[in-house]
Amino acid sequence: MSFNPLPEKFRKLDFEQRRNLIRSAYAPEEEEWRAISADPDLDSISDIMVESAIGSVPIPLGIASGFLIDGQEVNIPMAVEEPSVIAAASFAAKIIRQGGGLSTWAEDSVMTAQIFLEDAPEGAESRLRQSEGSLAALVDSAQPAMKARGGGYRGIELTRLPESGVVVVGLRIDVRDAMGANALNTAAETLKPELERLSGGKALMCILSNAARQRRAGARFALPVSRLAALGPQGMNGQEVARRIVLASRIAQEDEQRAITHNKGIMNGISALVLATMNDTRAVEAAAHAWAGRSGRYRSLSSFAVEEQKLIGAIELPLAVGSLGGAVNFHPASRLALRILGFPGAQRLSRIAAALGLSQNFAAVLALVTGGIQRGHMKYHAARLAFSAGARGEEVRKVADALAEGSSNRMEEAQRLLEQLRREKDG
Ligand code: MEV
Repeated sequence: MSFNPLPEKFRKLDFEQRRNLIRSAYAPEEEEWRAISADPDLDSISDIMVESAIGSVPIPLGIASGFLIDGQEVNIPMAVEEPSVIAAASFAAKIIRQGGGLSTWAEDSVMTAQIFLEDAPEGAESRLRQSEGSLAALVDSAQPAMKARGGGYRGIELTRLPESGVVVVGLRIDVRDAMGANALNTAAETLKPELERLSGGKALMCILSNAARQRRAGARFALPVSRLAALGPQGMNGQEVARRIVLASRIAQEDEQRAITHNKGIMNGISALVLATMNDTRAVEAAAHAWAGRSGRYRSLSSFAVEEQKLIGAIELPLAVGSLGGAVNFHPASRLALRILGFPGAQRLSRIAAALGLSQNFAAVLALVTGGIQRGHMKYHAARLAFSAGARGEEVRKVADALAEGSSNRMEEAQRLLEQLRREKDG
């Protein structure tokens, strides 16, 4: 029996009451309960951030190091549950810096809010277009702080959907250092009555678009092919490693199923940074995958080529991340992540994210074409097995190493090795 109906007023209970109720209903083990229980300050933050809160989930946080991005050293906080991801990012960073590191770019933080007008009579679009000046003034007067920071109204797009006949007003706004959801939704709602009046239509709904196609960022690196020789198995020269990486990249353009996994590897890095800074992972993922499919076929977000004896890696994708607003810079864990990054603005953060995504991708593809990723993964699997068998502290590494040496991944073997280790220690 695991389902327990909760009282209808569950969300109206206070934090402690909700916790007590869940604890007595599900009788969690002490370790499980401790895992979601933060200190009282953090609990109250969780309580104001989401409804019906009962705690918080401690996702492992690590630091990928060794990055040289636009000539600056950067350590990157990553929140991720998957082993190998942070190690792979740091590994790639150290190789890429041998070629001078990563160079990056980002567009302005321009996002689009959409207002959907139904029953708009003919000529609505041109009436709206003629009033663009007053619409711009309305947007900017509703958000003076954004205007003061150099952001604000950037233009309007008007489309009549061919099937429904609905007129879509796309309101472009530069949201500067914010992710922008709140600013856009506020602007769209402020403008709604005026858009209805001017168009003669009726607003069905308004909301930002997460596509973020005018908020792209990218990264690039160039690595002498000769540097790749040390990274392949014995007997494989740098040219061959580079050739294999380039072919893998072409396959990810040609084969959709591979492209999905290839891009998943990119998002291993990007989402981990997005989560560590407490930006909106779902928004960034949705935009990235939609961008990957913009040609009508889902393709790789990155590309690799050899030019003048250098392996060139490049990536480009929408990256709507903010350096303030919502949980970002509000939750202390987000502030710590931003502190480690040197408190970047939104554009710099998106550039770091692009650089990380490309590095993560390079590490994955390099491993795949030079011997597979299982070797690295097995090490972490062995550590988990050792932990599950009861090993703690130093014992974990010792048992894991012994497991890897004997190529065993069985629990009984982990237990046997742990007992042996403890016997040796006692004796
Ligand atoms: C695993 O999380 C990510 C990879 O599958 C990415 C890839 O295949 O490129 C290794």
